[in-house]
Amino acid sequence: MKIISLFFTASLLVVILSSFLSCSKDKVPNYIDPNCIDTVSFNATVLPIMQQNCISCHGVGNSTGYVFSNHTNISNQSNAIIGAMQNQGFQLMPIGGPQLPDSTIQAIKCWIAQGKLNN
Ligand code: HEC
Repeated sequence: MKIISLFFTASLLVVILSSFLSCSKDKVPNYIDPNCIDTVSFNATVLPIMQQNCISCHGVGNSTGYVFSNHTNISNQSNAIIGAMQNQGFQLMPIGGPQLPDSTIQAIKCWIAQGKLNN
């Protein structure tokens, strides 16, 4: 009896602890601005997202046919970019997945909705 209750206490602790950990981990990166209230900065947000996730294969001189290196080419191809990030009408990117976090995709969507500012 004692061993069984010990086992249950231990597994309960693990469950509580892991749900707490995953919860606190999710909060910050998954912040989403559904109505695009905050103005998204091209230089502080959009460009770094592209640099971190896309430019290794879509930099100048690549063979994929898409270059996402500056405000002009990213703005002109924003339709393909958001389509690929969501796997809607375009192949899922980053190639092979996983899909980028919702908050990252939402930031790009807001930047487009706000007129693709060069800010
Ligand atoms: C590891 C390399 C790699 C990364 C990282 C990558 N791509 Fe690609 N991407 C490719 C390749 C290769 C192709 C061409 C695929 C093909 O023709 O089958 C491609 C094609 C595309 C296309 C055209 C897809 C279509 O259906 O016509 C778009 C749009 C695109 N990528 C956007 C992105 C975006 C946005 C990111 C970052 C979120 C990204 N890619 C990250 C390798 C990559």
